[in-house]
Amino acid sequence: MGDKRSRIIKALKDAQKTPVSGEELGLELGISRTMVWKYIKSLQADGYEIESSPKRGYVLMSVPQLLYPEEIKMGLTTTLLGKNIHYFDEVSSTNSLAKDIGASEEEGTLVIAEVQNGGRGRMGREWVSPQGGIWMSVLLKPGIPLRHASRLTLVAGLAVTNVMRDLGLDARIKWPNDVRINGKKVCGILTEAKAEVDRVDYVVLGIGINANMDLKDIPDPLRSGSTTLKAELGRHVRRVQFLQDLLFELEQQYIRFKTQQFSQILNDWLALSDTIGREVKVTTPSRIIEGKAVGVTSDGALVIRKADNTKEEVIAGRCIYARPK
Ligand code: BTN
Repeated sequence: MGDKRSRIIKALKDAQKTPVSGEELGLELGISRTMVWKYIKSLQADGYEIESSPKRGYVLMSVPQLLYPEEIKMGLTTTLLGKNIHYFDEVSSTNSLAKDIGASEEEGTLVIAEVQNGGRGRMGREWVSPQGGIWMSVLLKPGIPLRHASRLTLVAGLAVTNVMRDLGLDARIKWPNDVRINGKKVCGILTEAKAEVDRVDYVVLGIGINANMDLKDIPDPLRSGSTTLKAELGRHVRRVQFLQDLLFELEQQYIRFKTQQFSQILNDWLALSDTIGREVKVTTPSRIIEGKAVGVTSDGALVIRKADNTKEEVIAGRCIYARPK
């Protein structure tokens, strides 16, 4: 089913607004004209604007601005990530879903939704996920010790930042996982792992990107510290293209993660971080650490030099910049 649908979309796209007859499509796919018509109907119901004239055939006028798997896969240049896609109009949380199916699904599986009604952020916080954003989870099976799972957060942050920078935006990373543009958060990453003793069974990399939504869709206390790609670019971002680029970049960084010393990725991450050198206040469930951020360890812990000149490492927490650099 999916394959034939994609082939019809591709044939109509390739025709570049010249009509393609039902007969031609039918012959190419080995199905009847009536079946072609059924596919066309279902595409129209999904928002593909297809004009049809009995004599001339079908013309694709526009494709929906949605993250349909067919659209994502067309032109996707990865070999692992996004080969298998679970797509939802609305879901509670792509991370929760990916965790549920993680054991039986293959590495690289993507769970994606237009809207999340129970999006989760770090430290039990809610993640507001209206229409227009990119809410996605990628399933990875890196076979690493559990203590290294947090490295993947840095890998994902680096990939997202690189793709945004390629759009001409000055994206930077705030430890541990916020991608920010001009000091405002545009992306959050939630890495969750399922592990047996010390070995990771699988990791779910949850990435939330404020892409094309309006700032007014982000509720008040968060709004002032948030931004969207649309606001920064002054135009809509092509979400399908962005996602394809992100999957490609994430795959490249994941390959590096598996084949190179982590210090190389860490160096790239540090070069794009706006945390190092700042006075920070990091709040964890058990304590508050204040001082100057002076580095990040190979496990992703922030190294803070405190007022008494001793150093402390903190693996997770809420980080606030005490004052501008
Ligand atoms: C944070 O900055 O607190 C992390 C936010 C992570 C949000 C993403 S959106 C896709 C995935 N599904 C979720 O429920 N959360 C992550």
